[in-house]
Amino acid sequence: MTGQSNISNSKNPLSMIGFAASQGYCTLLDAAALAPTSVISLAETPVDAMAISFYKMFGFPTGVGALVVKESFLARLDRPWFAGGTVDVVQAPGAIVTMTAELHERFEDGTINYLNLPAITDGLRFLSAYLPFLPLRLSSLTRHLITSLSELRHDTTGTPVVQILSRRPSKTVKSVGEQSDTGSVVALLFLLPNGQMIPNSFVEYAASRQNISLRTGCMCNPGGAASLLGLRDAMAALPCDATLRAFEQYMGRELGVVRISLGLASDFRDVWRVIQFAKLLGDTAARTAMWDEWLHDKTGVAL
Ligand SMILES: Cc1ncc(COP(=O)(O)O)c(C=O)c1O
Repeated sequence: MTGQSNISNSKNPLSMIGFAASQGYCTLLDAAALAPTSVISLAETPVDAMAISFYKMFGFPTGVGALVVKESFLARLDRPWFAGGTVDVVQAPGAIVTMTAELHERFEDGTINYLNLPAITDGLRFLSAYLPFLPLRLSSLTRHLITSLSELRHDTTGTPVVQILSRRPSKTVKSVGEQSDTGSVVALLFLLPNGQMIPNSFVEYAASRQNISLRTGCMCNPGGAASLLGLRDAMAALPCDATLRAFEQYMGRELGVVRISLGLASDFRDVWRVIQFAKLLGDTAARTAMWDEWLHDKTGVAL
């Protein structure tokens, strides 16, 4: 089960894990999006395995995650291949392979990223100090961001500048220790005065020119994107040789959303700058100037 969607911003009820376990299922919690801003108690939610991704939690190092796993569950996993580091003896020439006795080493292919691992200890310490305060802080920042963006109107038509697609928190966190019922991810589309979506590739370009890092696309979550964008039927009808480009041509628009993610490092100024940026997209003169710049910018082509 995914603890928190990285695109819809919903949190799934962790109680489902206990229920699944009571029905005899093994349980795996994908906490990659949940762990960066929420306290997870493995005592209260005893999963068989939980996946986390460290750079999402404290920004560094990339490329290192962890599968936190019960030994009894690990012992049940059978790995039908081997690679360097995962074996005790390999007969060569011959066919005998004995896997290493350390269960976790059986799953660690090659040389682990040991030069970066000490940063995880510091990162966990750093995050632990702030984690109790994050739901309160991020809930107010997220609420301010969503409310401000939703209120923006185009200067020419008075129509909305954004369409929020992700889940909004249903309650405001009021004190330290409370948890939010959603994450602090905002998935949205920017709209033209006529209501059509502004291409995400332009939004990404224009944001980067303002030194704003936001992500566009399907967030490695095609099901979530299809659901948010109302594309489930079109997705179901894809031919087996489908490519994203062909799918986009067929639909007549870029597929994907713009995602603004707040976390440990975000502060009020970041939110304010995103709102100022969105205001520019609602201002016809400013938007047209950025659009012309985008069309003439050769950086992407050169790359
Ligand atoms: C819920 C969730 N699971 C898994 C992943 C993949 O993590 P990684 O990119 O570290 O492999 C992500 C990344 O966005 C995520 O949000």
